[in-house]
Amino acid sequence: MKTLNVDLGNRSYPIHIGSQLIQKLDIIAPHIHGHQVMIVSNTTVAPLYLEALKNTLADDFQVAEVILPDGEAYKTLDHVNTIFDALLEQRFNRTCTLIALGGGVIGDMTGFAAASYQRGVNFIQVPTTLLSQVDSSVGGKTGVNHPLGKNMIGAFWQPQLVLADTDTLQTLPDRELAAGIAEVIKYGLIRDPEFFSWLESNVTPLKQKEASALKEAIYRSCQNKADVVAQDELEGGIRATLNLGHTFGHAIETEQGYGNWLHGEAVATGLLMATDLSYREGWISAEDNQRTKQLLQAFDLPVVPPENMSAKTFISHMLVDKKVLDGNLRLVLLNSLGSACVTSSFSKENLQQTLTAGKKLGIF
Ligand code: NAD
Ligand code: GLY
Repeated sequence: MKTLNVDLGNRSYPIHIGSQLIQKLDIIAPHIHGHQVMIVSNTTVAPLYLEALKNTLADDFQVAEVILPDGEAYKTLDHVNTIFDALLEQRFNRTCTLIALGGGVIGDMTGFAAASYQRGVNFIQVPTTLLSQVDSSVGGKTGVNHPLGKNMIGAFWQPQLVLADTDTLQTLPDRELAAGIAEVIKYGLIRDPEFFSWLESNVTPLKQKEASALKEAIYRSCQNKADVVAQDELEGGIRATLNLGHTFGHAIETEQGYGNWLHGEAVATGLLMATDLSYREGWISAEDNQRTKQLLQAFDLPVVPPENMSAKTFISHMLVDKKVLDGNLRLVLLNSLGSACVTSSFSKENLQQTLTAGKKLGIF
Protein backbone atom coordinates (compact mmCIF):
# COMPACT_ATOMS: atom_id res chain seq x y z
CA MET A 1 0.00 0.00 0.00
CA LYS A 2 1.18 3.54 -0.79
CA THR A 3 0.02 6.49 1.27
CA LEU A 4 -0.15 10.22 0.60
CA ASN A 5 -1.33 12.96 2.91
CA VAL A 6 -3.62 15.85 2.03
CA ASP A 7 -2.09 18.54 4.17
CA LEU A 8 -4.87 20.77 5.50
CA GLY A 9 -3.86 21.41 9.10
CA ASN A 10 -6.28 19.79 11.54
CA ARG A 11 -8.42 18.61 8.62
CA SER A 12 -5.57 16.67 6.98
CA TYR A 13 -6.27 13.12 5.85
CA PRO A 14 -4.54 10.16 4.24
CA ILE A 15 -5.06 8.71 0.78
CA HIS A 16 -4.27 4.97 0.82
CA ILE A 17 -3.71 3.35 -2.57
CA GLY A 18 -3.36 -0.41 -2.93
CA SER A 19 -4.84 -3.87 -3.19
CA GLN A 20 -7.47 -5.47 -0.87
CA LEU A 21 -7.90 -2.31 1.17
CA ILE A 22 -11.68 -2.72 1.54
CA GLN A 23 -10.92 -5.76 3.72
CA LYS A 24 -8.62 -3.88 6.11
CA LEU A 25 -10.46 -2.85 9.28
CA ASP A 26 -7.28 -1.55 10.91
CA ILE A 27 -6.82 1.19 8.31
CA ILE A 28 -10.50 2.19 8.09
CA ALA A 29 -11.66 2.02 11.73
CA PRO A 30 -9.48 4.85 13.13
CA HIS A 31 -11.23 7.29 10.77
CA ILE A 32 -14.76 6.33 11.86
CA HIS A 33 -15.51 8.59 14.78
CA GLY A 34 -18.87 7.37 16.08
CA HIS A 35 -20.60 3.99 16.07
CA GLN A 36 -23.12 4.52 13.26
CA VAL A 37 -21.97 3.99 9.66
CA MET A 38 -24.10 4.61 6.56
CA ILE A 39 -22.63 3.21 3.34
CA VAL A 40 -23.92 4.98 0.23
CA SER A 41 -23.55 3.10 -3.04
CA ASN A 42 -25.43 2.42 -6.26
CA THR A 43 -27.15 -0.48 -8.00
CA THR A 44 -24.02 -1.37 -10.02
CA VAL A 45 -21.29 -1.09 -7.36
CA ALA A 46 -23.24 -2.49 -4.38
CA PRO A 47 -23.56 -6.04 -5.77
CA LEU A 48 -19.79 -6.04 -6.42
CA TYR A 49 -18.27 -4.58 -3.23
CA LEU A 50 -20.89 -3.74 -0.57
CA GLU A 51 -20.83 -7.15 1.12
CA ALA A 52 -17.04 -7.10 1.46
CA LEU A 53 -17.07 -3.64 3.03
CA LYS A 54 -19.92 -4.54 5.37
CA ASN A 55 -18.13 -7.70 6.46
CA THR A 56 -15.05 -5.66 7.32
CA LEU A 57 -17.02 -3.26 9.53
CA ALA A 58 -19.95 -5.30 10.87
CA ASP A 59 -18.39 -6.58 14.12
CA ASP A 60 -17.28 -3.15 15.28
CA PHE A 61 -19.95 -0.75 14.00
CA GLN A 62 -23.69 -0.40 13.39
CA VAL A 63 -23.70 -0.52 9.58
CA ALA A 64 -26.61 0.52 7.33
CA GLU A 65 -26.79 1.21 3.61
CA VAL A 66 -28.59 3.31 1.06
CA ILE A 67 -28.46 2.23 -2.57
CA LEU A 68 -29.12 4.88 -5.22
CA PRO A 69 -29.85 4.41 -8.92
CA ASP A 70 -26.74 4.43 -11.11
CA GLY A 71 -25.90 7.37 -13.33
CA GLU A 72 -24.98 11.02 -13.73
CA ALA A 73 -28.66 11.76 -14.40
CA TYR A 74 -29.39 10.86 -10.75
CA LYS A 75 -26.80 13.26 -9.31
CA THR A 76 -29.57 15.51 -8.03
CA LEU A 77 -30.85 17.11 -4.83
CA ASP A 78 -33.74 14.60 -4.89
CA HIS A 79 -31.31 11.72 -4.55
CA VAL A 80 -29.31 13.44 -1.82
CA ASN A 81 -32.66 13.67 -0.07
CA THR A 82 -32.95 9.87 -0.30
CA ILE A 83 -29.75 9.73 1.78
CA PHE A 84 -31.23 12.15 4.35
CA ASP A 85 -34.41 10.02 4.51
CA ALA A 86 -32.37 6.91 5.32
CA LEU A 87 -30.30 8.73 7.94
CA LEU A 88 -33.34 10.22 9.69
CA GLU A 89 -35.50 7.09 9.49
CA GLN A 90 -32.70 5.15 11.20
CA ARG A 91 -32.01 7.94 13.70
CA PHE A 92 -28.42 8.59 12.72
CA ASN A 93 -26.89 11.22 14.97
CA ARG A 94 -24.17 13.85 14.57
CA THR A 95 -21.35 11.43 15.33
CA CYS A 96 -22.24 9.13 12.43
CA THR A 97 -19.95 8.46 9.47
CA LEU A 98 -21.05 8.28 5.83
CA ILE A 99 -19.01 6.08 3.49
CA ALA A 100 -19.18 6.70 -0.27
CA LEU A 101 -18.67 3.40 -2.10
CA GLY A 102 -18.65 4.08 -5.83
CA GLY A 103 -17.48 6.48 -8.52
CA GLY A 104 -17.48 10.26 -8.59
CA VAL A 105 -21.27 10.54 -8.72
CA ILE A 106 -21.71 8.63 -5.44
CA GLY A 107 -18.69 10.39 -3.91
CA ASP A 108 -19.94 13.89 -4.77
CA MET A 109 -23.48 13.18 -3.52
CA THR A 110 -22.40 11.42 -0.32
CA GLY A 111 -19.95 14.22 0.45
CA PHE A 112 -22.69 16.80 -0.02
CA ALA A 113 -25.06 14.82 2.22
CA ALA A 114 -22.28 14.64 4.84
CA ALA A 115 -21.64 18.39 4.54
CA SER A 116 -25.25 19.24 5.27
CA TYR A 117 -26.70 16.45 7.44
CA GLN A 118 -27.12 18.00 10.89
CA ARG A 119 -24.76 20.77 9.65
CA GLY A 120 -21.93 18.38 8.92
CA VAL A 121 -20.88 14.81 9.74
CA ASN A 122 -17.81 12.69 9.02
CA PHE A 123 -17.35 10.94 5.74
CA ILE A 124 -14.98 8.54 4.04
CA GLN A 125 -14.37 8.11 0.32
CA VAL A 126 -13.99 4.58 -1.07
CA PRO A 127 -13.66 5.42 -4.79
CA THR A 128 -14.15 2.53 -7.21
CA THR A 129 -13.58 4.16 -10.63
CA LEU A 130 -10.27 5.38 -11.99
CA LEU A 131 -11.69 8.89 -12.26
CA SER A 132 -12.73 8.95 -8.64
CA GLN A 133 -9.43 7.44 -7.45
CA VAL A 134 -7.34 10.03 -9.29
CA ASP A 135 -9.52 13.09 -8.82
CA SER A 136 -12.99 13.38 -7.36
CA SER A 137 -12.42 11.59 -4.02
CA VAL A 138 -9.58 13.98 -3.12
CA GLY A 139 -10.01 17.63 -2.23
CA GLY A 140 -13.48 17.94 -0.74
CA LYS A 141 -15.54 19.24 -3.66
CA THR A 142 -19.02 17.81 -3.19
CA GLY A 143 -22.35 18.51 -4.82
CA VAL A 144 -25.00 17.82 -7.42
CA ASN A 145 -26.00 18.96 -10.89
CA HIS A 146 -28.76 21.42 -11.80
CA PRO A 147 -30.60 21.20 -15.15
CA LEU A 148 -28.99 24.55 -16.03
CA GLY A 149 -25.45 23.72 -14.97
CA LYS A 150 -23.10 20.94 -13.95
CA ASN A 151 -22.07 20.75 -10.24
CA MET A 152 -23.80 24.06 -9.56
CA ILE A 153 -25.06 23.14 -6.08
CA GLY A 154 -22.51 21.98 -3.55
CA ALA A 155 -20.06 22.56 -0.73
CA PHE A 156 -16.42 22.11 0.17
CA TRP A 157 -16.31 19.30 2.74
CA GLN A 158 -13.22 17.19 3.27
CA PRO A 159 -13.34 13.45 3.93
CA GLN A 160 -11.55 11.78 6.86
CA LEU A 161 -9.93 9.18 4.61
CA VAL A 162 -9.63 8.22 0.94
CA LEU A 163 -9.31 4.48 0.41
CA ALA A 164 -8.44 3.69 -3.21
CA ASP A 165 -8.65 -0.09 -3.51
CA THR A 166 -7.13 -0.68 -6.93
CA ASP A 167 -8.60 -4.22 -7.19
CA THR A 168 -12.00 -2.63 -7.83
CA LEU A 169 -10.76 -1.31 -11.19
CA GLN A 170 -10.68 -4.85 -12.57
CA THR A 171 -14.49 -4.79 -12.95
CA LEU A 172 -14.57 -1.30 -14.46
CA PRO A 173 -15.70 -1.16 -18.13
CA ASP A 174 -13.00 0.00 -20.60
CA ARG A 175 -14.97 3.11 -21.52
CA GLU A 176 -15.02 4.19 -17.85
CA LEU A 177 -11.30 3.47 -17.48
CA ALA A 178 -10.59 5.73 -20.45
CA ALA A 179 -12.80 8.45 -18.96
CA GLY A 180 -10.60 8.38 -15.85
CA ILE A 181 -7.45 8.63 -17.95
CA ALA A 182 -8.65 12.02 -19.25
CA GLU A 183 -8.26 13.48 -15.73
CA VAL A 184 -4.87 11.75 -15.41
CA ILE A 185 -3.63 13.37 -18.64
CA LYS A 186 -4.88 16.69 -17.25
CA TYR A 187 -2.28 16.59 -14.44
CA GLY A 188 0.49 16.09 -16.97
CA LEU A 189 -0.73 19.03 -19.02
CA ILE A 190 -1.16 21.52 -16.18
CA ARG A 191 1.86 20.80 -13.97
CA ASP A 192 3.76 17.57 -14.58
CA PRO A 193 5.35 17.28 -18.06
CA GLU A 194 7.43 14.28 -16.94
CA PHE A 195 4.24 12.46 -16.01
CA PHE A 196 2.81 13.37 -19.44
CA SER A 197 5.81 11.65 -21.08
CA TRP A 198 5.42 8.66 -18.74
CA LEU A 199 1.80 8.34 -19.88
CA GLU A 200 2.89 8.43 -23.53
CA SER A 201 5.17 5.46 -22.79
CA ASN A 202 2.61 3.50 -20.76
CA VAL A 203 -0.53 3.47 -22.90
CA THR A 204 -0.62 -0.31 -23.36
CA PRO A 205 -0.05 -1.37 -19.71
CA LEU A 206 -2.66 1.16 -18.59
CA LYS A 207 -5.23 0.03 -21.15
CA GLN A 208 -4.58 -3.56 -20.10
CA LYS A 209 -5.13 -2.57 -16.46
CA GLU A 210 -1.72 -3.75 -15.33
CA ALA A 211 -1.70 -3.26 -11.57
CA SER A 212 1.68 -1.56 -11.26
CA ALA A 213 0.95 0.92 -14.07
CA LEU A 214 -2.46 1.76 -12.60
CA LYS A 215 -0.99 2.24 -9.11
CA GLU A 216 1.70 4.55 -10.44
CA ALA A 217 -0.84 6.61 -12.44
CA ILE A 218 -3.12 6.91 -9.39
CA TYR A 219 -0.27 7.76 -7.03
CA ARG A 220 1.18 10.48 -9.24
CA SER A 221 -2.25 11.94 -9.97
CA CYS A 222 -3.15 12.08 -6.28
CA GLN A 223 0.25 13.56 -5.47
CA ASN A 224 -0.44 16.40 -7.91
CA LYS A 225 -3.98 16.91 -6.70
CA ALA A 226 -3.07 16.81 -2.99
CA ASP A 227 -0.33 19.34 -3.59
CA VAL A 228 -2.67 21.79 -5.33
CA VAL A 229 -5.48 21.33 -2.79
CA ALA A 230 -3.07 21.91 0.12
CA GLN A 231 -2.06 25.23 -1.45
CA ASP A 232 -5.56 26.42 -2.33
CA GLU A 233 -8.35 24.40 -0.70
CA LEU A 234 -11.20 26.77 -1.58
CA GLU A 235 -10.09 27.61 -5.14
CA GLY A 236 -9.08 31.20 -4.69
CA GLY A 237 -6.33 30.73 -7.28
CA ILE A 238 -4.19 27.80 -8.40
CA ARG A 239 -6.84 25.11 -7.76
CA ALA A 240 -8.82 26.45 -10.74
CA THR A 241 -6.08 25.06 -13.01
CA LEU A 242 -7.40 21.57 -12.12
CA ASN A 243 -10.33 22.56 -14.29
CA LEU A 244 -8.36 22.56 -17.55
CA GLY A 245 -10.81 21.59 -20.29
CA HIS A 246 -13.75 21.52 -17.88
CA THR A 247 -15.47 24.74 -19.04
CA PHE A 248 -15.75 23.23 -22.54
CA GLY A 249 -16.48 19.78 -21.09
CA HIS A 250 -19.24 20.90 -18.74
CA ALA A 251 -20.91 22.69 -21.68
CA ILE A 252 -20.90 19.40 -23.60
CA GLU A 253 -22.28 17.40 -20.65
CA THR A 254 -25.05 19.91 -19.93
CA GLU A 255 -26.09 20.30 -23.58
CA GLN A 256 -26.00 16.58 -24.38
CA GLY A 257 -27.97 15.60 -21.26
CA TYR A 258 -26.16 14.32 -18.16
CA GLY A 259 -24.75 10.83 -18.72
CA ASN A 260 -24.82 10.75 -22.52
CA TRP A 261 -21.22 11.86 -22.72
CA LEU A 262 -19.26 10.53 -19.74
CA HIS A 263 -17.71 13.30 -17.65
CA GLY A 264 -14.19 12.12 -18.55
CA GLU A 265 -15.06 11.99 -22.26
CA ALA A 266 -16.35 15.56 -22.21
CA VAL A 267 -13.19 16.59 -20.30
CA ALA A 268 -11.01 14.84 -22.92
CA THR A 269 -12.56 16.87 -25.73
CA GLY A 270 -12.35 19.96 -23.52
CA LEU A 271 -8.63 19.33 -22.89
CA LEU A 272 -7.94 19.37 -26.61
CA MET A 273 -10.08 22.48 -27.07
CA ALA A 274 -8.01 24.18 -24.34
CA THR A 275 -4.69 23.15 -25.91
CA ASP A 276 -6.02 24.16 -29.34
CA LEU A 277 -6.85 27.66 -28.07
CA SER A 278 -3.49 27.87 -26.27
CA TYR A 279 -1.83 26.98 -29.58
CA ARG A 280 -3.85 29.58 -31.52
CA GLU A 281 -2.76 32.18 -28.96
CA GLY A 282 0.84 31.19 -29.69
CA TRP A 283 1.50 29.87 -26.18
CA ILE A 284 2.14 26.19 -26.96
CA SER A 285 3.71 24.60 -30.02
CA ALA A 286 1.86 22.75 -32.76
CA GLU A 287 3.83 19.68 -31.69
CA ASP A 288 2.56 19.81 -28.10
CA ASN A 289 -1.01 20.32 -29.33
CA GLN A 290 -0.53 17.27 -31.56
CA ARG A 291 0.99 15.20 -28.73
CA THR A 292 -2.08 15.94 -26.61
CA LYS A 293 -4.42 14.86 -29.38
CA GLN A 294 -2.43 11.67 -29.98
CA LEU A 295 -2.34 10.73 -26.30
CA LEU A 296 -6.09 11.24 -25.87
CA GLN A 297 -6.79 9.24 -29.01
CA ALA A 298 -4.41 6.47 -27.93
CA PHE A 299 -6.80 5.92 -25.00
CA ASP A 300 -9.81 5.94 -27.38
CA LEU A 301 -11.08 9.22 -25.95
CA PRO A 302 -13.21 11.57 -28.07
CA VAL A 303 -11.51 14.77 -29.24
CA VAL A 304 -14.21 16.30 -31.44
CA PRO A 305 -17.18 18.15 -29.90
CA PRO A 306 -20.70 16.90 -30.67
CA GLU A 307 -22.04 17.72 -34.15
CA ASN A 308 -25.06 19.54 -32.77
CA MET A 309 -23.13 22.13 -30.72
CA SER A 310 -22.60 25.53 -32.33
CA ALA A 311 -20.19 28.14 -30.96
CA LYS A 312 -23.24 30.03 -29.68
CA THR A 313 -24.48 27.00 -27.73
CA PHE A 314 -21.03 26.49 -26.25
CA ILE A 315 -20.77 30.11 -25.17
CA SER A 316 -24.22 30.19 -23.57
CA HIS A 317 -23.28 27.19 -21.36
CA MET A 318 -19.76 28.44 -20.73
CA LEU A 319 -21.09 31.70 -19.29
CA VAL A 320 -22.66 29.71 -16.43
CA ASP A 321 -19.17 28.44 -15.44
CA LYS A 322 -18.01 29.05 -11.85
CA LYS A 323 -14.90 30.86 -13.12
CA VAL A 324 -16.96 33.60 -14.82
CA LEU A 325 -16.15 36.90 -13.11
CA ASP A 326 -18.32 40.02 -13.61
CA GLY A 327 -19.75 38.44 -16.78
CA ASN A 328 -16.28 37.76 -18.21
CA LEU A 329 -15.41 34.30 -19.42
CA ARG A 330 -12.17 33.03 -17.88
CA LEU A 331 -10.54 29.84 -19.07
CA VAL A 332 -7.74 27.59 -17.93
CA LEU A 333 -5.16 27.60 -20.73
CA LEU A 334 -1.57 26.43 -21.07
CA ASN A 335 1.51 28.70 -21.11
CA SER A 336 3.48 25.62 -22.08
CA LEU A 337 2.98 21.88 -21.77
CA GLY A 338 3.18 21.45 -17.99
CA SER A 339 2.19 24.98 -16.97
CA ALA A 340 -1.35 26.38 -16.76
CA CYS A 341 -2.98 29.73 -16.03
CA VAL A 342 -6.50 31.08 -15.56
CA THR A 343 -7.05 33.94 -17.98
CA SER A 344 -9.54 36.07 -19.87
CA SER A 345 -6.75 37.31 -22.18
CA PHE A 346 -7.51 35.37 -25.32
CA SER A 347 -8.94 36.68 -28.55
CA LYS A 348 -12.63 36.15 -29.27
CA GLU A 349 -11.69 35.18 -32.84
CA ASN A 350 -9.39 32.42 -31.66
CA LEU A 351 -12.02 31.12 -29.25
CA GLN A 352 -14.54 31.15 -32.10
CA GLN A 353 -12.07 29.15 -34.22
CA THR A 354 -11.53 26.61 -31.44
CA LEU A 355 -15.27 26.19 -30.92
CA THR A 356 -15.89 25.51 -34.59
CA ALA A 357 -12.63 23.98 -35.89
CA GLY A 358 -13.27 20.45 -34.64
CA LYS A 359 -16.69 20.38 -36.26
CA LYS A 360 -15.57 21.79 -39.60
CA LEU A 361 -12.57 19.56 -40.05
CA GLY A 362 -13.68 16.49 -38.14
CA ILE A 363 -10.49 16.94 -36.12
CA PHE A 364 -8.53 19.78 -34.63
P1 NAD B 1 -19.66 7.40 -12.05
O1 NAD B 1 -19.65 7.63 -10.62
O2 NAD B 1 -20.94 7.59 -12.79
O3 NAD B 1 -19.10 5.93 -12.33
C1 NAD B 1 -19.02 5.48 -13.66
C2 NAD B 1 -19.76 4.15 -13.86
O4 NAD B 1 -18.96 3.09 -13.36
C3 NAD B 1 -21.08 4.05 -13.15
O5 NAD B 1 -21.98 3.32 -13.93
C4 NAD B 1 -20.73 3.25 -11.89
O6 NAD B 1 -21.82 2.58 -11.33
C5 NAD B 1 -19.73 2.29 -12.46
N1 NAD B 1 -18.76 1.74 -11.52
C6 NAD B 1 -18.16 2.37 -10.49
N2 NAD B 1 -17.20 1.59 -9.96
C7 NAD B 1 -17.22 0.44 -10.64
C8 NAD B 1 -16.45 -0.74 -10.58
N3 NAD B 1 -15.44 -0.87 -9.72
N4 NAD B 1 -16.73 -1.75 -11.43
C9 NAD B 1 -17.72 -1.60 -12.35
N5 NAD B 1 -18.47 -0.50 -12.49
C10 NAD B 1 -18.22 0.52 -11.64
O7 NAD B 1 -18.59 8.32 -12.80
P2 NAD B 1 -17.10 8.76 -12.45
O8 NAD B 1 -16.42 8.88 -13.76
O9 NAD B 1 -16.51 7.93 -11.41
O10 NAD B 1 -17.30 10.20 -11.82
C11 NAD B 1 -17.84 11.26 -12.59
C12 NAD B 1 -18.43 12.27 -11.63
O11 NAD B 1 -17.38 12.80 -10.81
C13 NAD B 1 -19.06 13.46 -12.34
O12 NAD B 1 -20.29 13.72 -11.75
C14 NAD B 1 -18.09 14.60 -12.09
O13 NAD B 1 -18.71 15.83 -12.06
C15 NAD B 1 -17.52 14.22 -10.75
N6 NAD B 1 -16.21 14.79 -10.48
C16 NAD B 1 -16.03 15.40 -9.27
C17 NAD B 1 -14.79 15.92 -8.94
C18 NAD B 1 -14.58 16.51 -7.58
O14 NAD B 1 -13.52 17.12 -7.35
N7 NAD B 1 -15.51 16.34 -6.66
C19 NAD B 1 -13.72 15.82 -9.84
C20 NAD B 1 -13.92 15.19 -11.06
C21 NAD B 1 -15.18 14.67 -11.36
N1 GLY C 1 -11.71 18.51 -10.04
C1 GLY C 1 -11.25 19.83 -9.78
C2 GLY C 1 -11.01 20.11 -8.33
O1 GLY C 1 -11.13 19.28 -7.47
O2 GLY C 1 -10.66 21.22 -8.02
